[in-house]
Amino acid sequence: MLEERIRNSDLIEKVTSPYEASLIIKNNMTVATSGFTPSGYPKAVPMALAKRIKKSKENFKICLITGASVGDELDGALAKENMIYKRLPYQTQRDCRNGINSGEIQYIDMHLSHVAQYINYGFLGDIDVAIIEAIAITEEGNIIPSTSVGISPTIVSKANKVIIEINTSQPLELEGIHDIYSPEKPPNRKAIPIENVSDRIGTNYIPIDKNKIEAIVITDINDNVRPLAQVNEVSKKMARNLIDFLEEEVKYGRIPKNLLPLQSGVGSVANAVLAGLVDSKFENIQLYTEVIQDSVFDLIDAGKVKIASSTSITPSKEGLDRFYRNIKKYREKIILRPQEISNNPEVIRRLGIIALNTAIEADIYGNINSTNIMGSRMMNGIGGSGDFTRNAYISVFTTESIAKCGNISTIVPMISHSDHSEHDVQVIVTENGIADLRGRSPKERAKIIIENCAHPVYKGMLWDYFNRACKGKNKHVPILLGEALSWHQRFMETGTMKKSIDSYIV
Ligand code: COA
Repeated sequence: MLEERIRNSDLIEKVTSPYEASLIIKNNMTVATSGFTPSGYPKAVPMALAKRIKKSKENFKICLITGASVGDELDGALAKENMIYKRLPYQTQRDCRNGINSGEIQYIDMHLSHVAQYINYGFLGDIDVAIIEAIAITEEGNIIPSTSVGISPTIVSKANKVIIEINTSQPLELEGIHDIYSPEKPPNRKAIPIENVSDRIGTNYIPIDKNKIEAIVITDINDNVRPLAQVNEVSKKMARNLIDFLEEEVKYGRIPKNLLPLQSGVGSVANAVLAGLVDSKFENIQLYTEVIQDSVFDLIDAGKVKIASSTSITPSKEGLDRFYRNIKKYREKIILRPQEISNNPEVIRRLGIIALNTAIEADIYGNINSTNIMGSRMMNGIGGSGDFTRNAYISVFTTESIAKCGNISTIVPMISHSDHSEHDVQVIVTENGIADLRGRSPKERAKIIIENCAHPVYKGMLWDYFNRACKGKNKHVPILLGEALSWHQRFMETGTMKKSIDSYIV
């Protein structure tokens, strides 16, 4: 059994307990780990580290770098003990988020495609320790990752010391799903040779100098994946609007009838919108994306998927069980790549991706906030949404037109925080309709966003605002600055809309 997982006999002697492995990590270190939207992250060593520090009551903090979000056993365990002084590039865990928003944790919210090169170029200093979850170690000592690849190839090559967590809850059948390729540094960088989503360009393991492996820990703790909300009527309407738009694009000859490769963002809304394609007439769909959520399995089961390239498999708990039960079938359709490749601008532009991401709010000119509630309370982070939006062939944002039971309009005069600018956002979809912003001036955009996308309860207020703004002096992007800024505050204070909005059936 152990020999199946650690196939290099010299490395068996490195097997140790999570506690012993945790002693490698010292105060003030920079620790980088595997893991992407919580899948394939180390669990046993971080939990042992947190337990050790809780007991010793030491003042102990680290800088924690991951591929993207990780689960309770890493972000949660460390944040609860106040052990993170700096965190990047993306998170979704409650205690970690609270630490960021209380100012305890310095958070660097960054494009996920940039993380590997920031590390490679040394912008983030030395990586003292890398912790990688793996399904196995090969005869040569190389690492076969589990349900995500993320930044693992980079941190394995750059870290001074490496700890490997062999996770026996992750099936050995994952072997062969990965495609590991690391670009050279400029000026020696070559074109990334992906011309089709299905192209495999690297190895199925992460190469490592095995002398760096300081400890190997065996664990069987499952990926603590996040629940996804049920697909509801509102998300079905958003999906319908999106499909109508894509069908029109096919009709105009702008995209082929099996579409161009799709990227779909994280969260319940993105999952529900993609699920809507199951009932569409599109066949042979290709995905070039960073997360595979439950809806991709629905599409594979419906015989709609030709190939799906990603950097992680991150379904709900039920979705993960389903993946494990049918792993042979799903494995045929999935390739897992480093996030530097899954989110690479060069490849995204070459393949002509249709990017589908979710907004927290959109303004009437087409600017998008994906990260900060009311301008300053961090939700998750920009993740890969910027990598895809900026470089896509068509960039789409979906959002329900209201949030918090209707107390908030997600279509606003001016976003309270900016992630994606009017220059990159091409299409906005809500349950009410779609605004195609391509080739339109700011005022033309405002009219169709208000008319097609806003909720009926807020439409009048937005028209009133826009018409008054247009009367002012500066008419290129008409803004009443004071009023636009106070728009969010007004709804926080009143909070009175719920009753009236409940009576609306959109
Ligand atoms: N004002 C206040 N709260 C808002 C809001 C707004 N305008 N819009 C959404 N919210 C709240 C929701 O009420 C919900 O709160 P809750 O957790 O207390 O229930 C929360 O934000 C999440 O919204 P939800 O509608 O459930 O959407 P989601 O799960 O689909 O997540 C994002 C939406 C934007 C947070 C998520 O997609 C994200 O983090 N995106 C950025 C990263 C990204 O796009 N990565 C993908 C690249 S591949």
